[in-house]
Amino acid sequence: MGSESETVCVTGAAGFIGSWLVMRLLERGYVVRATVRDPNNEKKVKHLLELPNAKTHLTLWKADLAEEGSFDGAIQGCTGVFHVATPMDFESKDPENEVIKPTINGVLDIMKACTKSNTVRRLVFTSSAGTVNVEETQKPVYDERNWSDLEFVRTKKMTGWMYFVSKTLAEQAAWKFAKENNIDFITIIPTLVIGPFLMPSMPPSLITGLSPITRTESHYRIIKQGQFVHLDDLCMAHVFLFEHPKAEGRYICSSHSATILELAKLLREKYPEYNVPTEFEGVDENLPNIEFCSKKLTDLGFEFKNSLEQMFEGAVETCREKGLLPVLNFEKTPN
Ligand SMILES: NC(=O)c1ccc[n+]([C@@H]2O[C@H](COP(=O)([O-])OP(=O)(O)OC[C@H]3O[C@@H](n4cnc5c(N)ncnc54)[C@H](OP(=O)(O)O)[C@@H]3O)[C@@H](O)[C@H]2O)c1
Repeated sequence: MGSESETVCVTGAAGFIGSWLVMRLLERGYVVRATVRDPNNEKKVKHLLELPNAKTHLTLWKADLAEEGSFDGAIQGCTGVFHVATPMDFESKDPENEVIKPTINGVLDIMKACTKSNTVRRLVFTSSAGTVNVEETQKPVYDERNWSDLEFVRTKKMTGWMYFVSKTLAEQAAWKFAKENNIDFITIIPTLVIGPFLMPSMPPSLITGLSPITRTESHYRIIKQGQFVHLDDLCMAHVFLFEHPKAEGRYICSSHSATILELAKLLREKYPEYNVPTEFEGVDENLPNIEFCSKKLTDLGFEFKNSLEQMFEGAVETCREKGLLPVLNFEKTPN
């Protein structure tokens, strides 16, 4: 599997995960059809067109999850599809129509395109930890059998509630469709994805991950008891699961757990110049970690390569290079 002649489609290819995945696929010799909503937006696609092998192995395709049939052309003739795209507008005034419906209808539409094409042997869907552990009382460990409690989500309406609903309903609808239509379907469930990146703007997950540096307090809750995976490990897991003949079902992809206090300590030691807070409301050293278990993935032979420190180093360095985080000079206070 994964021969050089294979043509695969990546949706949401200009985004944080999509663009890194495209880079890794091109490196392995795949011919990649990258879908974006606006291929003419030079600022949003430049980093794709500049990738090694892009000139010979990459094409851009216009497609929108809100438009029925719009992925048909890009998927026709492919042997694999990586469905990464998702609407992420947490501030949407009409979440049912702008986030939830396009996410569910979009994945079903892509599955229909796969059946129509008759060439796709496997569809890999990037799901989310938001489909797994959003519930009133947290368990110490989560695995692939767990699903978020949507009644709790819809009642509580916490930040990003429409995203949790959209991803959960989309993944569940996709499983039903895959079984009914005999589609080889795999889902990957990443926790918070951190690392160096290619896209030009601040990736959504780094707004959360770097919130102790930027002091974006509204995001502290999300990483109070956080789980993390390096962007490169996640993308290599996508490729690994696409290529592995025995892969089946859902796969959690998460390598580290840390409370916000542990994370803040790591960031403070590495980057003292950002004055990362030392205290967080409702958090002390006794707060336990909540684990996302990736045993199913590692039992299949996948190895995580990056530490928590490498994830954050990569993220901070790239943000600085792209002017998304200030580079400050740290002057040590004399003892
Ligand atoms: N980053 C994380 O921590 C994390 C964790 C768990 C799961 N995930 C999942 O990973 C996937 C990618 O997330 P990301 O972090 O890479 O976010 P991202 O950078 O915002 O990428 C999402 C992409 O989706 C595309 N998109 C949005 N609405 C669309 C629509 N209506 N039709 C077609 N494309 C649309 C956007 O494409 P345009 O370029 O056309 O605007 C964007 O590039 C998502 O499925 C997300 O649920 C991410």
